[in-house]
Amino acid sequence: MASPKDILRKSLKMVHGCPMIYAFANNWEEVEQFRSRPDDIVIVTYPQTGTTWVSEIVDMVLNDGDVEKSKRDFITAKVPMLEMAVPGLRTSGIEQLEKNPSPRLVKTHLPIDLLPKSFWENNCKMIYMARNAKDVAVSYYHFDLMNNLHPPPVTWEKYLENFMAGNVAYGSWFNHVKSWWKKTEEHPILFLHYEDMKENPKQEIKKIATFLEKNLNDEILDKIVHHTSFGMMKDNPLVNYTHIPNTVMDHSKSPFMRKGIAGDWKNHFTVAQNEKFDAIYGKEMSGSTMKFRMDF
Ligand code: A3P
Repeated sequence: MASPKDILRKSLKMVHGCPMIYAFANNWEEVEQFRSRPDDIVIVTYPQTGTTWVSEIVDMVLNDGDVEKSKRDFITAKVPMLEMAVPGLRTSGIEQLEKNPSPRLVKTHLPIDLLPKSFWENNCKMIYMARNAKDVAVSYYHFDLMNNLHPPPVTWEKYLENFMAGNVAYGSWFNHVKSWWKKTEEHPILFLHYEDMKENPKQEIKKIATFLEKNLNDEILDKIVHHTSFGMMKDNPLVNYTHIPNTVMDHSKSPFMRKGIAGDWKNHFTVAQNEKFDAIYGKEMSGSTMKFRMDF
């Protein structure tokens, strides 16, 4: 059993070419050999994209907007994170998934090449949510400040350099979104955007319901919009991550439910940082049909 000092604030460890959280990288064979079930629903995101938000929404959609049912457990138990393993401190994602009844919700941040092949063999439904890169960088920087599973914090300046170069957990944002977007051509993946969800949550929740073959009336959709609003989720101890031991997540450094808005990058990027980011963005995203909204 690992002690906290063996796994906290360690450098990232490469897993098949992808920088991975040190604690998660051990026993990777278990992740690779994970056996999916055909009715598993996989929620895929790059970190800090609103995974928790879309996870709570999907859980509510499957339960017809029943708020009492949504309170049956913590989000980490209802929607376990496949690759999460913190020996000695938390039940691993795989241990939790094995306990959960079908249809299971599976959360992952894995780049496409690292997703266990069983999910493809079973043709599992997948929901991918993307968020504009600048807001992800800002959110991820604050997350690294409070999440001790990540390497020691660096300045925002240095963090942004690392982010642009893909030297953060789960690697390059650019490769992540581009490869998952491309996969929509051949696999049942519902592709969503954080910014659309902010602008018109009811419409996006309806898309999720249709994708999952649930017919929900307006009243239920409104209930889900309300229950999963940022204000409600920030105050909900079942989803705001305050149940995670303080040794792992220290909300006094930065709360997990931080701002929940689109466009916060404007409060953090300098003009020079923005110009450099735009140049790299243009190069990395050239040739992709993906479009993101960044100005609000
Ligand atoms: P900010 O740091 O920009 O506030 P993830 O769940 O993938 O780790 O993403 C966390 C980000 O999603 C944080 O972004 C968090 O505040 C935001 N978020 C969580 N719940 C949300 C909600 N209901 N509405 C909008 N944003 C939400």
